Amino acid sequence: MALLWALTVLSLLPLLEAQSPACANLTVKPITNATLDWLSGKWFYIGSAFRNPEYKQEAQKIQADFFYFSPNLTADTILLHEYQSVGDRCVYNSSYLKVRRENGTLSKFEGAREHIAYLLLLRDPRTYILAFSLDDEKNQGMSFYADKPEATPEQLEEFHEALVCKGMNKTEVIYTDWKKVNVRDQTPHPACLLLLTADKPEATPEQLEEFHEALVCKGMNKTEVIYTDWKKVNVRDQDVCEPLQKQHELERKKAEEEP
Ligand SMILES: *[C@@H]1O[C@H](CO)[C@@H](O)[C@H](O)[C@H]1NC(C)=O
Ligand SMILES: *[C@@H]1O[C@H](CO)[C@@H](O)[C@H](O)[C@H]1NC(C)=O
Ligand SMILES: *[C@@H]1O[C@H](CO)[C@@H](O)[C@H](O)[C@H]1NC(C)=O
Ligand SMILES: *[C@@H]1O[C@H](CO)[C@@H](O)[C@H](O)[C@H]1NC(C)=O
Ligand SMILES: *[C@@H]1O[C@H](CO)[C@@H](O)[C@H](O)[C@H]1NC(C)=O
Ligand SMILES: *[C@@H]1O[C@H](CO)[C@@H](O)[C@H](O)[C@H]1NC(C)=O
Ligand SMILES: *[C@@H]1O[C@H](CO)[C@@H](O)[C@H](O)[C@H]1NC(C)=O
Repeated sequence: MALLWALTVLSLLPLLEAQSPACANLTVKPITNATLDWLSGKWFYIGSAFRNPEYKQEAQKIQADFFYFSPNLTADTILLHEYQSVGDRCVYNSSYLKVRRENGTLSKFEGAREHIAYLLLLRDPRTYILAFSLDDEKNQGMSFYADKPEATPEQLEEFHEALVCKGMNKTEVIYTDWKKVNVRDQTPHPACLLLLTADKPEATPEQLEEFHEALVCKGMNKTEVIYTDWKKVNVRDQDVCEPLQKQHELERKKAEEEP
C-alpha cells in the first residue's frame, strides 16, 4: 500500500508542478484593449530560452535590445520600433505585429513566414513573456521583457518559475548584457557616430570602411572626433542605441511642427 502511494505521488509530481498556483495563472488569455493599452510604450528585452536553433542563434547575437510598441486598437496591429545592439552596432528596424485577440498571440511576418508568440502575463505588470511553440518540446522557447534594462531578482525569479511551469530550465536562458554596451569610459564604436549623421539607421561594412578612409584623408584623430560628437549629444552614459533613438524623436517632433 505504501509502495503504491509512493508510486502514485511520484508519477503525479510533474503534473503537480505544472499545476502549482503560480503555473495555474500562467495561461494564455485573450488580448483586450486594456492589454494593448498596457503593452503600449517602451520595453527592454532581458533574456530568452530558445530550443529552436535558429531563434537561439539570433538570441546569442543580441547584446541589448529595447523597443517601442504602438498598438492600433482598430486594426489589431502593433507598430514595433526596435533598437538592437548587435556586435557593437546599433541595428534599427520597424515592423508591424499582428494581434490575434482570441488566441492571445502576437505575430511577426518575415516574408511569407509568420512567427507566432503567445503573450503570457506575470504577477509583476512591469514584465511579460512571449512564448513560442510551447507544444513542441524540441522547439519551444520563452522570451522575457521588462520596463527597465535590468530585471530585479524577483522579476527574474518569476521568469524562472514560468520556465519550469512550461518544462524548461533557467540554465537554458541567454541574457542580454547592458554592461557590455554601456560606454561610460569607452570611445563609442564608429558605427554609432556614423548612425548619428547617416540618413539610414544601419551602417554597412562598406559605409564603415568609407568612414575610416574619410577620417584618414582629413588627417583627423579618430578618437577625438568620435569623442567630441558623442559628448555633443550628451549620451555618454547611454547605450549605443540611444543616439539613434534620440535622433528619431527629433525628426518626429520636426515633422509634427511642420505644417
Ligand atoms: C493568481 O491570480 C489571481 C488572480 O489574479 C491572484 O489573486 C493570485 O494571487 C495569483 N496566484 C499566484 C500564485 O500568482
Ligand atoms: C477597442 O478599442 C477600439 C478603438 O478604440 C474600439 O473601436 C473597440 O470597440 C474597443 N473594443 C472593446 C471591446 O471595447
Ligand atoms: C489604425 O488602423 C486603422 C485601420 O487600418 C487605420 O485607419 C488608422 O489610420 C490606424 N491608426 C493609426 C494611428 O495608425
Ligand atoms: C487562432 O489560432 C488558430 C490556430 O492557429 C487559427 O486557425 C485561428 O484562425 C486563430 N484565430 C484567430 C481569431 O485568429
Ligand atoms: C527588419 O525586419 C524585417 C522584417 O522582420 C527583416 O526582414 C529584416 O531583415 C530586418 N532588418 C534588420 C536589419 O534586422
Ligand atoms: C536544470 O538543469 C540543471 C542542470 O542541467 C539541473 O541540475 C536542474 O535540476 C534543472 N532544474 C530543473 C527545475 O529541472
Ligand atoms: C589621438 O588622441 C589620443 C587620445 O586623446 C591620443 O592618445 C593620441 O596621441 C592622438 N593621436 C594623434 C596622432 O594625435
